[in-house]
Amino acid sequence: MSSQYPWPAMRGIAYGGDYTPEQWPRETWLEDVALMREAGVNLVSVGIFSWALLETSEGVFDFAWLDELLDLLHDHGIAVDLGTPTASPPAWFFAGHPDARVVTRDGTVMGFGARGMASHSSAAYRVAIVRIASALAERYAEHPAVVLWHVHNEYGVPVGEDYSDQSAAAFRTWLREKYATLDALNAAWGTTFWGQRYGEWDHVGVPAAAPSVVNPSQRLDFARFTDHQLRQCFIAERDAIRAHASQPITTNFMANQSWTTDMWAWAREVDIVSDDHYLWAADPEGEIGLAIAADLSRSVGGGKPWILMEHSTSAVNWQPRNIAKRPGEMARNSVTHLARGADAILFFQWRASRFGAEKFHSAMIPHAGTESRVWREVVALGAALDRLDEIRGSRVVADVAILWDFESFWAQDLEWRPSVDVSHAERIRAYYERLWRDGITVDFALPGQDLSAYKLVIAPAQYMLSAADAANLDRYVAGGGTLVVSFFSAIVDENDAVHPGGFVAPLRDTLGLVVEEFLPLREGSQCRLRWSHDGATATLAGDAWQEDLVLSGAEIVATYVDGPGAAKAAVTRHRRGDGAGWYVSTRLDAEGLGILMSAVYADAGVAPAGHPDGVEVVVRRGEHADYVVAINHGDDAATIAATGVELLSGQPVEGSIDVAGGGVAVIRTDEGGGR
Ligand code: GLA
Repeated sequence: MSSQYPWPAMRGIAYGGDYTPEQWPRETWLEDVALMREAGVNLVSVGIFSWALLETSEGVFDFAWLDELLDLLHDHGIAVDLGTPTASPPAWFFAGHPDARVVTRDGTVMGFGARGMASHSSAAYRVAIVRIASALAERYAEHPAVVLWHVHNEYGVPVGEDYSDQSAAAFRTWLREKYATLDALNAAWGTTFWGQRYGEWDHVGVPAAAPSVVNPSQRLDFARFTDHQLRQCFIAERDAIRAHASQPITTNFMANQSWTTDMWAWAREVDIVSDDHYLWAADPEGEIGLAIAADLSRSVGGGKPWILMEHSTSAVNWQPRNIAKRPGEMARNSVTHLARGADAILFFQWRASRFGAEKFHSAMIPHAGTESRVWREVVALGAALDRLDEIRGSRVVADVAILWDFESFWAQDLEWRPSVDVSHAERIRAYYERLWRDGITVDFALPGQDLSAYKLVIAPAQYMLSAADAANLDRYVAGGGTLVVSFFSAIVDENDAVHPGGFVAPLRDTLGLVVEEFLPLREGSQCRLRWSHDGATATLAGDAWQEDLVLSGAEIVATYVDGPGAAKAAVTRHRRGDGAGWYVSTRLDAEGLGILMSAVYADAGVAPAGHPDGVEVVVRRGEHADYVVAINHGDDAATIAATGVELLSGQPVEGSIDVAGGGVAVIRTDEGGGR
């Protein structure tokens, strides 16, 4: 990512969504642009699924409709995020290149009639994506409406892994580059186990379905290879566009809702991070998952403002039960993304489709039309964002980081782990949720990055930890940092091989312990811990997991009362240099995490914000002022301390402000800024 932040050449906070006028007659286009103006829409994404309309047969282009559309949008002052349509190749492509179809792990060849790219390793697909991306860029590079390029759509879904012959050949090439010799590959994959040793490169294949569990090191490398191949497809299109056009280029990520791509690596390749986020309807506190997605989007981009490329005005159509958003929820969701660093609030999609697989998905213009709650809220949100223009470019500053490492997640998610109850997503959410409730803003970070700016670093799930990354964490602690490590971390190296010296060995000096044995608990069984720290005692509850710890310097903070680890250490703290390493060997419940984290905050010098329950407050720091963004998820009004001007109402704020139940407030404060 370039250091100069190339925000699209447009005013204020971007507002709009995916626009699919190809599904509508011309008279609707005219109505659309008028309604976009009414709603304050200033940016739409077009062309994302239009390949069959733009290239009607191989090498034959029809740009007439897109010319007309871009001119119309430009004439109405609406900027364009121009998509490349490569997530959905046309029927003629698959008919001409049947071997470009994706093969699943169990050998099924994917058919046509849905959407989904061809094989990431198909030479024909690579040629075709460069041809359409180049043609679009050549034609529209200078079009005044185009301010941003949107390559593809959500790499990794619905097509990620491919087990086809061309993918197998490409996997071998990738492995030869990585390992150079078969001996090195055999050693890294531990192929002496179950007699898997390879004597010929041609015998190395993709980890297709097999009689039993396939070599986990091979599967981990295949996950890395898949991510790499998808990224090469992106880079091919990006470079084809860049040969003609100078606008920033992005592709929409899926933060915490897909695990197939490594957002940290992808963020280095785009000019601006953009993300799609959908609430998980079954989660009664979906706003916490939303905050995780937003913080991750900001973090992978190095803290720069980012684009919320898609979210929904109300229900989606692809979950088991698609729950409509309640009045005000869309605005709260939007302002939360903004609070956590987004400078663009966009939706899928502008106008609900009458036909096709997504006809029950909400939109800015629902099937009910403009005489609807959703439309009225869309217009109100556009007006609200217009009042928040000055926030653009301001930054979110966090004192606390949570480690988030996709490669470790890929490894942890493989088969035959000690307990199905151990989940990285669950533990990250649990720790994040504690900080969210305490009003503490969090960045996400990699274990190998410079962490010295953080007072506190939490590793809720760092199953895979290389020796180099462990040394980095140790330096962080020795230099004065506070580190919290949760169980089933620092177990394996980058090849998914257990560390020499046993579990947690690379962090032995940092934490003052190792783990002798895992003690998973039976389904549903709980355990109790006796907490005793800084003169305070309490009984804590955990479940799923205990461990047999061997201490080498760590002090005991909590002891197991019952379970297989009864009377042994459960939670520890180790002084290391100027800092401290905490270790938590069970899955503490929310209350237990509260007690733990209060002690950790005190140790790290981090202060909970003390906002009323259910009120989310995040500060964006501008050059001249701080902006306090408050989102009240509760039903009752809540009081927030602040002094300045509330930007949505224009009213002065003297000392405190009441935020209505379900409402939001954005206060430009008299203090801060310029730091
Ligand atoms: C994804 C896709 C969109 C649309 C939405 C529906 O995010 O990018 O094209 O299918 O889901 O929620």
